[in-house]
Amino acid sequence: MAKHIKTRLTEAGRQYAEHGIVNPAIYNASTVTFETVAALEAATQNPLDGVYYGRYGTPTVFAFEEAVASLEGGFSRAVATSSGLAAIAVTLLTYLKQGDELLMVDTVYGPTRGFCDTVLANMGITTRYYDPDVGEGVSALFSPQTRLVFMESPGSLTFEMQDVKAITAAAKAHNIITVIDNTWATPLFYRPIEHGVDVVIHAATKYLVGHADAMLGVICCSDESHFLPLKKTAIRLGNCPGSEACYLGLRGLRTLSARLQQHQQHALEVASWLQQQEAVAEVWYPALAGTRGHEIWSRDYEGATGLLGARLHTNSKAALAAMLDGLEHFGLGYSWGGYESLALPTLGGIQRSVTGVPATQTLRLHIGLESPQDLIEDLAAGFERLALSA
Ligand SMILES: Cc1ncc(COP(=O)(O)O)c(C=O)c1O
Repeated sequence: MAKHIKTRLTEAGRQYAEHGIVNPAIYNASTVTFETVAALEAATQNPLDGVYYGRYGTPTVFAFEEAVASLEGGFSRAVATSSGLAAIAVTLLTYLKQGDELLMVDTVYGPTRGFCDTVLANMGITTRYYDPDVGEGVSALFSPQTRLVFMESPGSLTFEMQDVKAITAAAKAHNIITVIDNTWATPLFYRPIEHGVDVVIHAATKYLVGHADAMLGVICCSDESHFLPLKKTAIRLGNCPGSEACYLGLRGLRTLSARLQQHQQHALEVASWLQQQEAVAEVWYPALAGTRGHEIWSRDYEGATGLLGARLHTNSKAALAAMLDGLEHFGLGYSWGGYESLALPTLGGIQRSVTGVPATQTLRLHIGLESPQDLIEDLAAGFERLALSA
């Protein structure tokens, strides 16, 4: 019987540890030496665990890769990358070639859009952006050149949920590869491979590492036919996640279920409170009833994490700045997924091609592990500053 995901979070990858020590060591290595030619050749020919040169991976990297793969439930190994964006780049470059067309969700993370519009465009690969609400209607967008559909759910900054099941079923019927950025949910709360998706990407920088102290990405896939090309592309591009970052990723996994239950509980409290604030026009947190994407979230997800958004009534950038500048418990920062709360004004960063950009100011909050009551008091004082300067 398959072990519960909480058990896998605790145990996966630990067989790489030695001497009875609980955690695998951090192997800082470039050179690996061998006693014999036969041993050297055997290591070189093992694409999974061959330790023969630092760039191809160390036991610390393999432990992290195996642990995340076991959580997603597809092929037994994943490909670790030096960042989340590197995981996205490696995946797109594995499958796409000149003349191909990529269907990319319009609400994708900004730097993913930047990669498509520059690197892929320069290679003669066309990106067509599609509405996150497309569902099974995605079939109508397929052309003979369409090779891959990329999803991200919920969408960056505006939190639209995608009907991954419907999109994946439509793509499969046309032999089109499906890829999803699953960073927001983590494998604890959503496992897209179980819903037919071919490749799943995580910016492990966020919740998997969980402490805002490492850059790391990881690519999981449904079977070996995807794994080997992904691994080869990663290596050919010189991708090399550090053993230290992989160690931190592995350590983060051990407490993921405990941390995320708290993030979820705190975020739900803050989101429900935000919904009642006069200054707030709309809250974007799919776990909250009455918000965008709640139906899909209830159908497909086992939980929600700590990242949410809100649209305000005001369109004054200065008023939003007055609110955010004085916050005591929220740092102003671009990332999320650590233990700490963060706030970010987002309207200037929302790029869309086929869906609209919100007409008034928006913000993103990462709800951390502090007391939600303290966070709410901090935000309440912020809304008073906002009202005074509006
Ligand atoms: C949804 C999403 N995907 C990917 C990334 C990129 O991850 P990294 O910063 O590790 O490159 C981010 C970073 O913020 C993100 O929010």
